[in-house]
Amino acid sequence: MKLKHALAIASILTMGLAGTAAAEVDAKAAQALAKAEKCTKCHDVEKDKKGPSFKSLAAKYKGKADAVATMTKFLQTGPNDHAAISKGDEAAIKNLAAWILAQ
Ligand code: HEC
Repeated sequence: MKLKHALAIASILTMGLAGTAAAEVDAKAAQALAKAEKCTKCHDVEKDKKGPSFKSLAAKYKGKADAVATMTKFLQTGPNDHAAISKGDEAAIKNLAAWILAQ
């Protein structure tokens, strides 16, 4: 009985931690990936360059529940002559999308 109880608490704690980790954005990793992929050649956080600023993209996607998923797919497939990301696994690309959306 006691052990069961402890296990239940442990699993709740693990779930809680995983939830926090998923919601947290690793800004440093995102910026490093954006730089490595030369996104910053066309995108700036504040200003529109060749591409729209990350701030304006965050505003465009604001309130959309599937924003991270949509942007991750955009970055993986690179439609409309937009180059797809060549490095990084799905988690890293998702992190970049979440970071852009947090600007
Ligand atoms: C050669 C210039 C160029 C580079 C390099 C570039 N972009 Fe873009 N990006 C654009 C332009 C232009 C648009 C607007 C047209 C469009 O949506 O395709 C855009 C649009 C976007 C969008 C908006 C998509 C939407 O749904 O509205 C995102 C997000 C984005 N870029 C992220 C990135 C990231 C991340 C990188 C690096 C992997 C990157 N871009 C590299 C020019 C560029």
